[in-house]
Amino acid sequence: MSRLVVVSNRLPLGDNPSGGLVVALDDALRSSGGLWIGFSGEPVDDPADALIDHPGAAFDRLSFDLSPEDHHNYYLGFSNSVLWPICHGRADLSHLDPIYLDGYRKVSARIARLMVPHLRPDDRIWVQDYQLFALGAELRKLGVRNAIGHFLHIPFPAPAECATLPNPAELFDWMMAYDLVGFQARRDLDNFAASGHHMTGMEQTDENRFALGGRTLRAEVFPIGIDARSFVEEARDAPDADRVRFLTNARLMIGVDRLDYSKGIPQRFRAFQQLLDKIPDLHEQISFLQIAPPTRSGVQAYDDIREETEHLAGRINGQFATLNWTPIRFINRPYPRQVLAGLYRQARIGLVTPLADGMNLVAKEFVAAQDPEDPGVLILSRFAGAVEQMPAALVINPHDAHETAAAMASAMRMSKAERKSRHQELLSVVLEKDVAWWSAAYLKALDEEAAQDALTE
Ligand code: ADP
Ligand code: F6P
Repeated sequence: MSRLVVVSNRLPLGDNPSGGLVVALDDALRSSGGLWIGFSGEPVDDPADALIDHPGAAFDRLSFDLSPEDHHNYYLGFSNSVLWPICHGRADLSHLDPIYLDGYRKVSARIARLMVPHLRPDDRIWVQDYQLFALGAELRKLGVRNAIGHFLHIPFPAPAECATLPNPAELFDWMMAYDLVGFQARRDLDNFAASGHHMTGMEQTDENRFALGGRTLRAEVFPIGIDARSFVEEARDAPDADRVRFLTNARLMIGVDRLDYSKGIPQRFRAFQQLLDKIPDLHEQISFLQIAPPTRSGVQAYDDIREETEHLAGRINGQFATLNWTPIRFINRPYPRQVLAGLYRQARIGLVTPLADGMNLVAKEFVAAQDPEDPGVLILSRFAGAVEQMPAALVINPHDAHETAAAMASAMRMSKAERKSRHQELLSVVLEKDVAWWSAAYLKALDEEAAQDALTE
């Protein structure tokens, strides 16, 4: 069977992978093997002009270095100060600078050049996420004729958002270099079709086929999953020592996110404040644990969200805390997966309330971790891609503090019978559409495209 070559900006070299992409691909590559190429992690003054080997994993790993300037313009700049805010509906936070776009193009071309000597003729190349939209086109320029697919982990922008990019037409040129483009949710495929048509005249020739400038592309929805069975076991076997202890009879409500403005953390803090304001009976009965390690520091919007959330948590605790009860525990560091699994299992409520999110794996992890005989309740934003598969959660609008607070109250009161029936429905989709299903479905579609290309050549 041909080798799988995955390329992503982030490559897991440490012990604590964080971010949905790394967690999912780590799970996928562990079972199938292959090669994973990504950024070495820290910018260096004198970047190597070759990929660097990192033995010692269940799959091969090669990294590329970035200079501080390239890291600034390509990663902090175009990827996370232009594409990320715009794809998450926050054009107001984007920072358009031609140097960022130049840096993005330059780094994409460099990664392609460094990759070519390592490629075999029958490799299947699977490019991940918005940091590498342009990589397929750069590989094609160098004569790479392998099957190349792309998967977007974050939302695809609707026409009005796409129009705020400095280069909307170029984005579609980049996309057309791939044989297959995968999206998280139906919403993203619809936005891709509408924005492509609006910006470039891209034609939809079939439910999943698009044509532009003499090239055709297959685009389809492949909702990403988790390694659900191992998560179920990890939660069941989580050590008691890692449980949260309370001085009152409180139930745990948990949120686990990177500290990103797209995750709606201040909004959920305000909803919790609303709950405590409106229902004093719940004082000392509910304790909110928010785990949120900082991310992308150096980008102003991330520094701001950190300050805003710390301030809010302090204010709410100051307003409501008693001698034996701290309403919010706000922890800014990563935890090993097994500890998280045990915390999810202990919780009565899982809060997943992003303002925009590609999928959100925490929603799936929370469900997998529950005790089926006494499960907790998932509160899920209608803006997470996960909602298309998980309507049995308590679905809320995260901008609406009243609605979110009401969902918290109803999760606290929900009967065991209702919790069990909602959980059963959610768990069945999490188990069925797991990470193995996701990668197999995507790669099957990519193989079909490669086979069709071979016939028409
Ligand atoms: P994103 O990809 O935007 O970060 P997801 O919810 O899809 O969001 O994925 C986040 C992943 O990172 C999940 O697998 C989650 O368990 C992991 N993660 C998030 N916060 C932490 C943390 N504090 N410690 C360890 N892992 C974390
Ligand atoms: O899942 C979306 C994503 O942006 C991934 O591409 C990325 O690896 C992850 O979130 C974490 O972000 P970062 O790699 O910038 O820390």
